[in-house]
Amino acid sequence: MDDNIIWHHATVTRDRREKMNMHRAKLLWFTGLSGSGKSTLAHALEERLHQRGSRTYVFDGDNVRHGLCRDLGFCIDDRTENIRRIGEMSKLFVDAGIIALTAFISPIREDRDRARSLFADGDFIEVYVKASIETCESRDVKGLYKKARAGEIPHFTGISSPYEAPEKPEIIIDTEHSTVEQCVDLLLESLENLGVIPNSVV
Ligand code: ADX
Repeated sequence: MDDNIIWHHATVTRDRREKMNMHRAKLLWFTGLSGSGKSTLAHALEERLHQRGSRTYVFDGDNVRHGLCRDLGFCIDDRTENIRRIGEMSKLFVDAGIIALTAFISPIREDRDRARSLFADGDFIEVYVKASIETCESRDVKGLYKKARAGEIPHFTGISSPYEAPEKPEIIIDTEHSTVEQCVDLLLESLENLGVIPNSVV
């Protein structure tokens, strides 16, 4: 980086934004195979958080690849760059006082850990969306597994490209054995336990 680039400190700080929002800013990093349910859960959780008055934003792999990351493919180096950009971008959103939710396969542990290292302790919450490759393939929502098996998509995660499951994620959500509603309830409960959102009044 150029020595002549100097950081400018804002007077409207994250702390002030958080006070105005009446909640802490965090990053919820969803990781899992294609078809595991990352986007579905991130959007369903966002809906519930929004209804509770939280300021949120979801970054979704497929959507971001239409714009910010349209120049990137699926070889390991491109995925690393994809995750680097998302990490930096979500850091800006957390600084802006938002609860950011990211839904990217992010298959490489080192890439996720590098993103984590951009954040203060407790701000990066890794959510492992767990579903076996067999389940994801049988869902095949986008028809991509079929194409990948036919050899039409190179470097397809879980088939011809690796997925490294998190070793110590803050939250694990098993989407094979629970409904979307149950998963979102569990996510909200975990966020309450982690002190991200206040306990709901029964
Ligand atoms: S990541 O590996 O770089 O984190 P990302 O989440 O942005 O991936 O994009 C994954 C989405 O791109 C998948 O859900 C799928 O719809 C699509 N896709 C297209 N080609 C591939 C591929 N080779 N491997 C995995 N997903 C792919």
